[in-house]
Amino acid sequence: MSKPNFTAPLLQPFYSDALDLPNRVCMAPMTRGRANNPGHVPNDLMVQYYHQRASAGLIVTEGTHISERANGWEHVPGIYTADQVAGWRKVTDAVHAAGGRIWCQLWHQGRMSVPELLNGKLPLAPSAITAKGVSGFIDGGYRQAPVPEAASLEDVKQTVTNFKHAAMCADEAGFDGVELHGANGYFIHQFLSAQSNGRTDEYGGTIENRARFLFEVIDAVHEALPPERVALRLSPSMNDMQGMTVNDRTAAQFDYVVERLNASGLAYLHLLEPMKPVDEIAYAVKDVAAHFRPIYKGTLMINKGFTFETGNDILSKGLADLVSFGTPYIANPDLVGRFAGGEPLAEADKNTFYTTGPQGYTDYPAL
Ligand SMILES: Cc1cc2nc3c(=O)[nH]c(=O)nc-3n(C[C@H](O)[C@H](O)[C@H](O)COP(=O)(O)O)c2cc1C
Repeated sequence: MSKPNFTAPLLQPFYSDALDLPNRVCMAPMTRGRANNPGHVPNDLMVQYYHQRASAGLIVTEGTHISERANGWEHVPGIYTADQVAGWRKVTDAVHAAGGRIWCQLWHQGRMSVPELLNGKLPLAPSAITAKGVSGFIDGGYRQAPVPEAASLEDVKQTVTNFKHAAMCADEAGFDGVELHGANGYFIHQFLSAQSNGRTDEYGGTIENRARFLFEVIDAVHEALPPERVALRLSPSMNDMQGMTVNDRTAAQFDYVVERLNASGLAYLHLLEPMKPVDEIAYAVKDVAAHFRPIYKGTLMINKGFTFETGNDILSKGLADLVSFGTPYIANPDLVGRFAGGEPLAEADKNTFYTTGPQGYTDYPAL
């Protein structure tokens, strides 16, 4: 055991109008595919998993679909039926009883799904443009997504309403707040990107129009929950992944969105650094935190590839307020304690990220 680290920035409390956190080590949203299906209902195994991780400053749940049409994975939980609400209530009660905080990530996969997961319907998307190389997840593996159905204006309005309904369900299930999944090539991101959004109506064609859906969702969710219980995740530099490629319009799109979010009163904005190197990509924002910190005035959570050292470093530089950890949380349920004690971290086994049952899920011990 090396020297304890109690004075590290990551281990300091964080207070804002929205948040009161004992530390700044947050758990990033991670799909683990252990829910009961049919029904997409959270179960006791998931109660145990989240309870084990309750010492995080804040837990963001796995992506949780907001309606039947929003799904793109087998065995992931939803947040739109009474059974799902009851299942999640057990999770939130367990996390709260252990002194934790838990936010529900609201997810619509849009074009990244397959009819087998949608009762035979085509995936819904801003436009009928296929996500190349990406897919829905079924029978333990990925399957190429078909050409999606372009959402009618009625579909767009319905989806906005579905986000609001899911936020109401999350409230009923006892969540502290919701994080809108606007990242990683899913439905909201599909509207923001000119590649996946070829619409010629008020939801496409210009920076403002491509952002319209996102801001309508935020407004609708604010009818269900106060702004301090609503957050958003974005991945402005996602390139060559999840059907997304950075192009000459991407940076201007995200500059506009992030600047405008200052008026939305979010609890936090959760930004991802590039998932793949973008050094050679002319238009990509290389250092997301450094680029967006001066633009965004609210609480900034940053993610991707952080360690205890680099997480402390970015907080010390004032480039973020909170750091979220994904893979480190899979194998280290007591990540905060390990950081505090200077203990080594266990490695997560990639083979069990999306399998069923407790193996590689709830069987990583705390020290
Ligand atoms: C198994 C797994 C599942 C994930 N599922 C989600 C998800 O449901 N929603 C999301 O926004 N990101 C998801 N991610 C991305 C993580 O939140 C995070 O951005 C990524 O792991 C990088 O952070 P890290 O370097 O700390 O692991 C997932 C990542 C992993 C490894």
